[in-house]
Amino acid sequence: MLFGPGPSNPHPDVVDVLGAPMVGHLDPYFMSVMDGTMSDLRRLFGTTNHHTIPMSGTGSAGLEGIMLNLLEPGDDAVVAVIGYFGQRLAEMAKRAGATVRTVEAPLGQIIDPARIEQELKKKQAKLVAVVHAETSTGACQPLEDIARIARDHDALFAVDCVTSLAGIPVDVDAVGIDAAGSCSQKCMGAPPGLGPVTFGPRAIAAIEKRRTLCPTWYLDISLVFQYWGKEGAPRDRAFHHTAPVASLYAFRRALELIHEEGLPNRYARHRDAHEHFVAGLGALGLSLFTPAEHRLPMLNVVNIPEGVDDVRVRFALLERGIEIAAGFGPLKGKAWRVGLMGVNADPARIDVLLDALEEILVAQRR
Ligand SMILES: Cc1ncc(COP(=O)(O)O)c(C=O)c1O
Repeated sequence: MLFGPGPSNPHPDVVDVLGAPMVGHLDPYFMSVMDGTMSDLRRLFGTTNHHTIPMSGTGSAGLEGIMLNLLEPGDDAVVAVIGYFGQRLAEMAKRAGATVRTVEAPLGQIIDPARIEQELKKKQAKLVAVVHAETSTGACQPLEDIARIARDHDALFAVDCVTSLAGIPVDVDAVGIDAAGSCSQKCMGAPPGLGPVTFGPRAIAAIEKRRTLCPTWYLDISLVFQYWGKEGAPRDRAFHHTAPVASLYAFRRALELIHEEGLPNRYARHRDAHEHFVAGLGALGLSLFTPAEHRLPMLNVVNIPEGVDDVRVRFALLERGIEIAAGFGPLKGKAWRVGLMGVNADPARIDVLLDALEEILVAQRR
């Protein structure tokens, strides 16, 4: 049982289609799989953006694609950093040639949007980027106010929603997100290997106005969409790279299952699972690191009690077929990270974890 920060266990139906008969990536049947994937992914992101696809590569490929397509040498970017994954966004923006200013918060905390506004008032930026669900600290950064501030200051707004997508609403169009990148292997419940992204009209306009050639060939959105189909153009799909056919079957099936369940039901299930887990932790005398006001439901950072050996507990769980993760960076040895994602956002499965944890802790304290 994969209760780490991802991958989560894929739904059994998703695993089944990995073995479906292979077709070529330009086969007419596969074109229909691509079309269905784009339209289901738009519904998941809450957008009408044409440019919405699973990029080949993990979540990082999608995020790096966003930075390399939207930023050029000489551009300015402001990145909100509430943990390790915010730092990575800043690093990607830097490698795209931008001058990056970070706005940082202590571990477990989030950024007051007024601080982003202050930064933009000091000097304009082309892009503001944030991590919605910070997997290293379990904190959720609300998006609405930062989106509005970015727009008011004529900056693009890019979001890492790798951990949030399909577990809490992302609502790209309603919030006003210009580009977002996620992954297949967490709350979506597909195997790792794809990086779902969406680019809105303001992002596409910025790409079309680039002064320099996009420095990546593989992740160049203009080239990738020669294969996925240009907006309004006839679907004469040209080869760019060989699409990962089996991974896309699985991704497509995961999307179908998400929409069969219904987004509000799925979000409620992740929230209820979190509440069930927190109540169970309380009964074991365990607490969460992240303040309740901005806790994520799908990623729980659990304080390791005094005198309990982090590694021994995690190995004892592994021996029972259960994975949880170590704390990240400064939280290593002090906290565990427990993901309740996709099929694992389920009280019956969570009880298996809680029962195992109880047994192991009692044995260790003896
Ligand atoms: C918030 C966040 N951003 C980015 C990534 C990188 O995604 P991937 O491992 O799919 O490349 C992760 C992975 O855990 C993440 O949690």
